[in-house]
Amino acid sequence: MATEEHKYLANFIKTTHATLREEAQNFGPEVAWKRHVIRKDVLQKYASSMQKLATTYWMENNVNTKNLILCRVEWIIFQCMDYFLNGGRQKYDEREDNIKRKMSTNYVETELVTNCNCNVRNEKIDVLHFDNILDNSTKKLMLLDVGSCYNPFGNLNMFEVTAIDLNGITDKVLHCDFLNVRIGKENLFSNDKQSILQLAENSYDVVVFSLFLEYLPCPKQRYICCKKAYDLLQFRGILFIISPDSKHVNANAKLMKSWRYVLSKLGFMRIKYEKLRHVHCMIFRKSMFKCVASRWANLQALPVNDPLYQTSTAVYIPQDFRNVSSEVEQDGKEEYNTNEMISMFNELPFDGT
Ligand SMILES: C[S@@+](CC[C@H](N)C(=O)[O-])C[C@H]1O[C@@H](n2cnc3c(N)ncnc32)[C@H](O)[C@@H]1O
Repeated sequence: MATEEHKYLANFIKTTHATLREEAQNFGPEVAWKRHVIRKDVLQKYASSMQKLATTYWMENNVNTKNLILCRVEWIIFQCMDYFLNGGRQKYDEREDNIKRKMSTNYVETELVTNCNCNVRNEKIDVLHFDNILDNSTKKLMLLDVGSCYNPFGNLNMFEVTAIDLNGITDKVLHCDFLNVRIGKENLFSNDKQSILQLAENSYDVVVFSLFLEYLPCPKQRYICCKKAYDLLQFRGILFIISPDSKHVNANAKLMKSWRYVLSKLGFMRIKYEKLRHVHCMIFRKSMFKCVASRWANLQALPVNDPLYQTSTAVYIPQDFRNVSSEVEQDGKEEYNTNEMISMFNELPFDGT
């Protein structure tokens, strides 16, 4: 049964989100964000509440299609092993090569083929470099955990983790606003080594967005973060997106498709989608050939006048189509049901219900 402490922690998280969303609606997302990131006491309390909830109540209770009980962190680890150590990466190399070959022999897609050929030389060099690193099994995978909060991947041998957060658990996580961080040739740190000022482009094997995108109050900000993940990953590197949603797999299928569309245009190929009980789990691979990734988007017949497809530089979540004041009102009235408290995902204000 939910204790008073659990309710208190969950409520604190909900209120933080509700305030950010309300301010974004009232003052615009940039101003709201600036106000948000200087509230150090709130951010610190958010991080410790999140750590407590995540490590005590959200670890179990996520069953995948094969009836394996998994939490999102375990799902990511398992998928990394499959992709990097179990032939997954090579499987998708071959798939990409096949698609590209098919495109090259298809006159209708001449324009795309031209783009492909422009990319070939640089990307092949990168691929060789990548092979040298990853075929040596003693080398760790470079993992960037964005919105890490308490660094759940920090104690795993297979990863060299860069864990960043607006204000995560001290000593485990570096301070960094991913939305505004610079991307350059190398990682640059503050003098006290507590903050990261610049992240190195094309350098990560894995980028993780676990319950991260929903935190951002506007679709454009979410898109900027996806674009940054693209720039930071090596070719054939993978982006994990874990997004909360306790509904049935099809309930938000339209939104999930629009994410795939936007990321495909960016140069990502969606290579895995799985619905666990309370989260959507997705893997997007930075394609060797951008045209192969965007081919999927170009082949879609898009619904006319659908707000989800008005631009390809916005990533929407259900809350974007809801009135913030009704969200806040609903928060106040919420009844705590025991099962929901066990899962706790239903307690997240950005849950896609
Ligand atoms: C819901 S928590 C998720 C924590 C963890 N990833 C997990 O799966 O349990 C979202 C985290 O993202 C962080 N965050 C939000 N926006 C951020 C940004 N622009 N840069 C870095 N961290 C951010 C928040 O501070 C918060 O700790």
